[in-house]
Parts: sequence; C-alpha cells; structure tokens
Amino acid sequence: MHIGVLTGGGDCPGLNAVIRAIVRRAEATYSDTVIGFHDGWRGVVENSWRPLDMGSCRGILSRGGTILGTSRYTPFNLDNGVARALNTIQELKLDALVVIGGEGTLSCACEMHTRGVGIVCVPKTIDNDISCTERTFGFDTAVNIATDAIDRLRTTAESHDRAIFVEVMGRNVGHIATWAGIAGGVAYILTPETPFDIQELSDALLRRKSSGRHDSIVVVAEGAQPQPGTLELTEPSVDVYGHKRLGGIANVVAAEVEKRTGIETRVTILGHVQRGGTPTSFDRVLSTRFGVAAMDAVQAGCFGSMVALQANKIELVTLREATAQLKPVDKDLLDVSRVFFA
Ligand code: F6P
Repeated sequence: MHIGVLTGGGDCPGLNAVIRAIVRRAEATYSDTVIGFHDGWRGVVENSWRPLDMGSCRGILSRGGTILGTSRYTPFNLDNGVARALNTIQELKLDALVVIGGEGTLSCACEMHTRGVGIVCVPKTIDNDISCTERTFGFDTAVNIATDAIDRLRTTAESHDRAIFVEVMGRNVGHIATWAGIAGGVAYILTPETPFDIQELSDALLRRKSSGRHDSIVVVAEGAQPQPGTLELTEPSVDVYGHKRLGGIANVVAAEVEKRTGIETRVTILGHVQRGGTPTSFDRVLSTRFGVAAMDAVQAGCFGSMVALQANKIELVTLREATAQLKPVDKDLLDVSRVFFA
C-alpha cells in the first residue's frame, strides 16, 4: 500500500514518535511505502510532501514538535480546497491517509472520509479533550511540566507569603488544570467545566491564610469562565484560522483577588512551554502503540476510524463518534480535586 501521513493543529510532544511507529510498522511489517504531508492539511491541498522511511525517522522518538510541520489549515475554508485535496490523493495514488490531530484536524478528516478517502486517525492534543479515548498523547508531558512548575512556585510563594496563579492550557476543558492541580496539591483550581465565583475563591484564600498557610497556589485553565455577571473579561482576538487566542485570564483573576483580599498575588502563564520539549516515557509508549495500531487498522481496511486508549488497550472507535463532542473532566475527578480546596 501507499500511505500518506499528516500532523495537524497545535503541535504536541509525541508526534514524531507516532510518525516513527507508523513508518516502522508500514515498512518492516507490511512492505508499504509512506509519504508525509507538510504542515497538516495544507500539504494535501498544495501537494507538498516528502517521502518517509526508517532512515529518515531515525532519532526522532524523543524529539518534541513534528518533523512534518503542522498548521490549523483546513481545506473546507478554501475555495476548491476539498477538490484540490482529493485531487492530490488521487494523483499520488494513495491507498490511505493517517491523520494525527486534535478536534479540528479530526473533524476535517471525518468529512474527507465521507468523500471517499480511506482515513485512520490518531488522537493528539495536550488538552486531552478527544472523546472515546482515555488519553491523547502529549497530555502526560504537559501535566508533568505543569506539576513541576507548581512545585517550584510553591517555595517562592511560601517565602513571600503570596498567592501565585498558574495559568495552564485547556481551552474548553480542564484536564491539565485538574491533574496538575491535584498532583501539585494546590489551594484552588479553575476549569472551563465549572464557572467560578470570584468571591468564593477570595474567601477560600483568606481562610487558608488565617489558618497559617503562606503558600497559596491557584491553577487557572486558560478557558476558565466566571459565573455570569461576576467579572468583566475582554473578548480574545482570533488567529488567521479564526481560532481564539486565549491566555491571560489568570492576570484578571489575580488582580481581582488581590483587590478583594489584600493578599499579594503573582501570575505565571505556562503557555507553550507545556507543548515543547521531549515527551515523557508514557507519551512515547502511547504514541508508539497508537502509530502501530493505526497502520494495522489501515492494513485491515478499517477506515473512518480512530485509535483509542480504553482500559489500557488500544481499540478502534468510529471517527464520527470520536468527533461528536469534546470530553470534559470526569465529575468524580473534579469532586476529588475539591476535597483539597482551601
Ligand atoms: O493544541 C491545543 C492548544 O494547546 C490549546 O490548549 C491552546 O489554547 C492552543 O492549542 C494554543 O494554540 P496556538 O499554538 O495556536 O497558540
């Protein structure tokens, strides 16, 4: 078989490990050939790609980012984009396309599949918000980076008797905030799932201070929202793909808490640090398992599917189901996190 691979959306540690596993399985097990499209769906529309073989994938297992480049480009926002993408696939005589991406990239893959393209997907995003899989790769790395940051911020918060607000990624869901918050033993966590009450947060931090604690860390997911009418936020700008540029809500929350409590605050926005650098061993293994399973699915002709982690096994789910809605943080885990709030 002749197979195309693309990586779309925001980059994420583990992308190269998936590419390596796909190429290895394709070449060594099935004697298939693989090409990699540049910059996500843009490479398919513009017929821009490079051949991939085991030699070109040597040494990339532990490398962050993606050797293919990535973008949030979608053929559906472009005149003739879909026709051009279909034309490339036909011209290159591709038997299948393996699409590695998050919500936007996979939704696009789902639509392309309905237009006759043989597609198998791999769920990627540090946000961990793809349905039908317990994990996306990249999430574990991001949680470890955020937890390490919280541990470091705690000692400085304690020395100065300050409340430090750590903003993490998570535009629609608070998986990183919840996991890193629990792991870091923080005083409060704000997630997009639960609109927050700024007075309740302020009271909690005052209570903590009067009980003799001098180190309040609050984790704020970038997509956290105040209860309606309680705090003024400015509308974020959008990038060239119409994607909201989040980031900065922790500044607003910290300033308001300082005003209401008199507690001195500081803010650390972790931003893209969470997406950079080497993947954890968990993410390397998960990415490798996903890549091998994706190639097996291609061989079996299981198109319109996504590889998924369920009860520690790699399963196949339908792309339609996986892209129907985002996966919020489990209510039980949110309840556990609240046990430790100030
Ligand atoms: O890929 C998901 C994500 O990491 C979000 O959590 C974040 O809001 C967004 O990407 C940032 O995107 P960009 O790299 O375009 O700034």
